[in-house]
Amino acid sequence: MVQFTPSITADTAPLFTPFAINGVTLPNRFVMPGMQRQWCDDGVPQARLADYYRERVEGGVGLIITESCAVDHPSSTQTPMFCRINDATMSAWERCFDAVNHAGGRMFLQLWHEGAVRKEGPTLSPSGLVQAGKPNGRAATLGDLEAIRDAFVRGALAAKQIGAAGIEVHACHGYLLDQFLWADTNRREDDYGGDDIRDRVRFPAEIVRAIREAVGERFPISFRFSQWKEVDYNARIAPTPADLQTMLGILRTAGVDVFHASARYFWVPEWPGSDLGLAGWTKSMTEAPVIAVGSVGLDTDVMDNFFGKEAKSTGAEGLRELVRRFNNGEFDLISVGRSLIGDAEWVNKVRDGRLFEIRMFTKKDVIGDLEIEGFVAEAHG
Ligand SMILES: Cc1cc2nc3c(=O)[nH]c(=O)nc-3n(C[C@H](O)[C@H](O)[C@H](O)COP(=O)(O)O)c2cc1C
Repeated sequence: MVQFTPSITADTAPLFTPFAINGVTLPNRFVMPGMQRQWCDDGVPQARLADYYRERVEGGVGLIITESCAVDHPSSTQTPMFCRINDATMSAWERCFDAVNHAGGRMFLQLWHEGAVRKEGPTLSPSGLVQAGKPNGRAATLGDLEAIRDAFVRGALAAKQIGAAGIEVHACHGYLLDQFLWADTNRREDDYGGDDIRDRVRFPAEIVRAIREAVGERFPISFRFSQWKEVDYNARIAPTPADLQTMLGILRTAGVDVFHASARYFWVPEWPGSDLGLAGWTKSMTEAPVIAVGSVGLDTDVMDNFFGKEAKSTGAEGLRELVRRFNNGEFDLISVGRSLIGDAEWVNKVRDGRLFEIRMFTKKDVIGDLEIEGFVAEAHG
């Protein structure tokens, strides 16, 4: 069903200024974040994926981040309709990057590993836990970690070879690298785990450092993290601002160029006593650029939306709050997820004040016929 948002305006001009990340210049501040479309056959992107990405570039998106691509390790994913990055998929991915690059766009490839969320083996994670008290699979050995790290590096090199402008390390929402960051899922007693964030960030930081050494200095690396998990909205990898600052500092030193701070709502304060969201706190703690995200233009977050609550537009008022926080220096770039699935022209329509023309997405646009099952469905009853 098509719905229209009311035609009142917001001055979004500040968001239509260029911005550079490690030598890659973006025409504006709008990012399309990684979003799985399930348009793969045995991990190989279907031809329509190239058109889908190209249309979003033509619609004004400054930076596109591909959906999560499983790295080349037997434990990364077993789901055939999830994308992978390996020798067998490279030419199909190259077609997507060619389409985007020819349209004048810029695209990063997102590197991912499912960790303990994966249903069938081999399922590897820090401690064989998908959340506290929910075992699945087994703890990765040091040899497994080395092989997984190498797979991330191969994925980054492959991305560079086929025309990506950069890569993003997926360390959010409760998947493998986030399971390292989260104390509930990382109970390791070796150097990679425990109560101190400095130990829990060690493996993600090693991956970033190894990628940086392989791709060289002038190739942007984004690091995407979140407090919330698909299996637990109230989870915290960084219980305190000091933990966040420690984590960011280690990752920045390892070679991160931009932090993508994933929140469910961009306007919700992260800690009491301050109006700042996760992105704002991140921005206050690092000189690296920061991407914010979370229900831009919408009143319902992605997971509640998946599990039945309809999302409605917040129209010009939502955009005004976005611009207020941007002008306040809380983030450099803003990711827009579901709205860009619904309308490839979303950015251009916002630029032109044509809010009434925006096509609202349907649940079917967003997740097709997919039934969400497994641990995530269990967590949402
Ligand atoms: C269909 C769908 C698939 C998603 N897949 C990914 C993914 O592959 N990688 C990722 O980091 N986040 C993924 N996400 C989360 C989005 O990147 C984004 O954080 C979320 O949709 C919130 O943005 P929004 O409120 O603007 O939709 C997905 C979201 C949706 C709706």
